[in-house]
Amino acid sequence: MPPQVLASDEAVETVSADAVVVGAFKSDDGMELSRYAKTLDDALDGQLSEHLTHIGFKAKVAEVALVPTLGRLPARTVVVVGLGNEKEAGRTEIMRAAGSAARRLTDRATIASTLHQNIADDSAVGGAAEGFLLGSYKFTIYKSDPHPSKIERIAMLGGPDSDVIERGVAAAEATVLARDLTNEPAATLYPETLAERAKEIADVAGLSIEVLDEKQLAERGFGGVLTVGKGSDNPPRLIILRYKPANAKGKLGLVGKGITFDSGGYSIKPGGSMETMKTDMGGAAAVIGAMSALGRLKASIEVIGVVAAAENMVSGRAVKPGDVINHYGGGTSEVLNTDAEGRLVLADALAYACEQGVDAVVNVATLTGGIVVALGPKATGLFSNDDDLSAEVAEAAERAGERVWPMPLYDDYRSDIDSEVADIKNTGSRWGSAIKAALFLRNFVADGVPWAHLDIAGPARIESGYDEVPKGGSGVATRTLIAWIEGRAN
Ligand code: BES
Ligand code: MN
Ligand code: ZN
Repeated sequence: MPPQVLASDEAVETVSADAVVVGAFKSDDGMELSRYAKTLDDALDGQLSEHLTHIGFKAKVAEVALVPTLGRLPARTVVVVGLGNEKEAGRTEIMRAAGSAARRLTDRATIASTLHQNIADDSAVGGAAEGFLLGSYKFTIYKSDPHPSKIERIAMLGGPDSDVIERGVAAAEATVLARDLTNEPAATLYPETLAERAKEIADVAGLSIEVLDEKQLAERGFGGVLTVGKGSDNPPRLIILRYKPANAKGKLGLVGKGITFDSGGYSIKPGGSMETMKTDMGGAAAVIGAMSALGRLKASIEVIGVVAAAENMVSGRAVKPGDVINHYGGGTSEVLNTDAEGRLVLADALAYACEQGVDAVVNVATLTGGIVVALGPKATGLFSNDDDLSAEVAEAAERAGERVWPMPLYDDYRSDIDSEVADIKNTGSRWGSAIKAALFLRNFVADGVPWAHLDIAGPARIESGYDEVPKGGSGVATRTLIAWIEGRAN
């Protein structure tokens, strides 16, 4: 059961909870308590500020200090969280602060928070809800002695708008769903079971779903998905989710890379690089997660979500370097490196999405190690064939509190992936590999369709937790997609 998040008009000094969360700002000469923190400091005869000074608390964004109240307040612990400089604090800082607090509070049942009350933005309480829910996430189903989060109830003080809370809860629960899919081992999550999970989700979320099996993929010419999937005993699937409200203002496409395990194929990965490759369907998880929230958010725009699911394995049937693929919708590619498989399945899925008459399409993929080298583990690379769409997606990410950074699509790099035998080859020289992968994808986007590509290879799986992101599958891009769709729908 996810924790319940509700509006409350109890006062910060009398609320009874296992933890009461208050903010503090960074200032030139150290740190300044928020008015809610001051109220508690007064009730504790100055012991709160004394303790914070003692530990050298700076109020940097998401810095957390836990202070026991020892029976002097109805709340058992005061949690002070940094919000950074007051002038720069916005919804994102509130979200990060709440997330950071939640990661420390998973052994408490009830939390009361004033964090959203520190800034004028009405959407802040949605950010706080997101932060608390995401920060308290744990994947414990395979532990013999699981210690799941004990958080049951999070009260947002000051009587905030319940609709705003509900939007934050919806975005967070969509992200949690994406995290659960990403963290599931490949032994249990393979293309067929991913399709089954998508079906269950679609039923609950009021989406229609169509799943193409290997036979249908062959009949309809999905050469990229089939070729990548043919080395595995678990056959590939194309999963198509549709959200169609009565008052639709247009139609958008989402496309996700759903490689449920990436061994590299014959261009096999070294053992260390393979350890985390069950998460190579993080893009698919974000697409399924985002689609699951649309009905709840009453988004007034049609959305089609296409997930290309395959397992990249080695066997006597597997694709070999030098093989040529006939892609869905026409066009051929030469496979020189079987580990550059994501672009091969996405080529088909992008062509299919474009054919559905979308106004714009965004794909999400754990596509390249190159983007991790360029931007590190906490940022998504954004590539686009359309400056307006690129700006729109970047702005959506900003609103969602996710970090994306625009990357170039240099036309003169395209010749590096010209093939001797086919229209295009799937690898070039190693330099600028994230750009070349994006150029490969662009090749399969229909003329005139605005397209953006989010390369989430870095942040899809987080090695050490921070802010609202615990270690493991992060569900990254789910909230950016939701924010982008909401921006179009309103
Ligand atoms: N799934 C990987 C990319 C990846 C790397 C995701 C690290 C998450 C963490 C992708 O399929 C891949 O193997 N890409 C290769 C392509 C290369 C062979 C051209 C890469 O980027 O190294
Ligand atoms: Mn690969
Ligand atoms: Zn991959």
